[in-house]
Amino acid sequence: DDMQPLKGKCVLVTAGPTREGVDPVRYFTNYSSGKMGYAVARAAHAAGAEVILVSGPTSLKPPEGVELVNVISANEMYEQVMNRFDNVDAVIKSAAVADYRPKVINDHKIKKADSEMIVKMVRNPDILAELGSKKQDQILIGFAAESENIDEYAKKKLEKKRLDLIVANNILEDHSGFDSDTNHVTFFFPNGTEKDFELMSKEDVARQLCSSLASMFEKRAKQ
Ligand code: C5P
Repeated sequence: DDMQPLKGKCVLVTAGPTREGVDPVRYFTNYSSGKMGYAVARAAHAAGAEVILVSGPTSLKPPEGVELVNVISANEMYEQVMNRFDNVDAVIKSAAVADYRPKVINDHKIKKADSEMIVKMVRNPDILAELGSKKQDQILIGFAAESENIDEYAKKKLEKKRLDLIVANNILEDHSGFDSDTNHVTFFFPNGTEKDFELMSKEDVARQLCSSLASMFEKRAKQ
């Protein structure tokens, strides 16, 4: 079906930041708004897919027709995504997952002192890398938000995480990246092809992404 190229497919999308608590009043997070991931979820739904949106804390309206799973921390996102992986056809990981979390979550509010404070951080699981190592025939799409050496870092992540497509964007560029309504992206594929786009709305980036995803499904069906 031309209008519904993702019909019959189940697509899991992640969006937003994660929040890593350190005591009952404080947490570490990042500037992700969730706009890109929510746009992807809406576009995939419009393209006919069954969509599961695993979202960190955002202030966005839940997209209609999409199963929304709310999570807070990277560990919670990890659990929700892993539990569903066997039953989905594609994962699009637009979430800005925190790489580190405080080693200890204090039960009580940390009191201030005159000295400096050190918070020991430990690594969070790399959800996408683990999906890459476990994938059967799922299509995996990642995002790379970079501030320098965009192409090089994006291509490295594509290979290391065994992705089928990575969407790279420069977070320091005007009208691009975190909280913006527009994005300037390049798609990198494992065979070395690249697609460089003009500055577009996140809705348009999402539509382009779904159309690339649909072509990948089509190619596989012919193999
Ligand atoms: O943080 P990094 O640049 O490696 O992120 C690239 C991709 O990996 C993104 O799609 C992001 O959602 C995913 N990722 C993840 N778990 C992490 C870190 C990143 O799934 N802990």
